[in-house]
Amino acid sequence: GMKKKDVNVVVLGLDNSGKTTIITKLKPAEARTQDIVPTVGFNVEKFQTKALAFTAFDMSGQGRYRNLWEHYYRECHGVIFVIDSSDKLRMMVAKDELTLMLENADIKMKRIPILFFANKMDVRDSLSSVKCSNMLELEKIRDKPWHICNSNALTGEGLEEGINWLTDQVK
Ligand code: GTP
Ligand code: MG
Repeated sequence: GMKKKDVNVVVLGLDNSGKTTIITKLKPAEARTQDIVPTVGFNVEKFQTKALAFTAFDMSGQGRYRNLWEHYYRECHGVIFVIDSSDKLRMMVAKDELTLMLENADIKMKRIPILFFANKMDVRDSLSSVKCSNMLELEKIRDKPWHICNSNALTGEGLEEGINWLTDQVK
């Protein structure tokens, strides 16, 4: 059949937000690593959808590694930004990191899509995607298409909706 289009995505968000869990869930069951540990530096992961072959740069969200994020902006065709919707205390830290990313010259010059996952929707008292969107002031992003979905990376709920949106944007 037709060769699938290759797409690079950079996966951002604070430590413990669920980035690696999401990317693992998108891989076929037999390709999944058993235990998920906090990412050191970054990992390169591959997964496929019907139309696309994704290469995901799954970055560490720990403070000491966040300076690595920007090195992958130049070659990315899209961003996946994961928010821990149950971590109200650090929502403003997430917002600061998002702002830094949006102000980066390599990001600014591209009209690439940004997919937000308001992850951990299963946690009691977690914030809705609308509430996360308001707190992060996503409506201020006017130069790029963006979309936010609630997700539960443990069950996979919400991931397909998000990836389908991203696929429509980059294909
Ligand atoms: P770093 O690699 O340190 O940046 O973290 P990360 O964003 O990759 O987070 P990771 O995928 O390692 O998940 C952190 C913790 O959150 C793990 O214990 C996961 O099992 C848990 N987790 C991830 N997604 C969900 C979710 O949707 N719901 C719940 N309840 N827990 C989740
Ligand atoms: Mg990780």
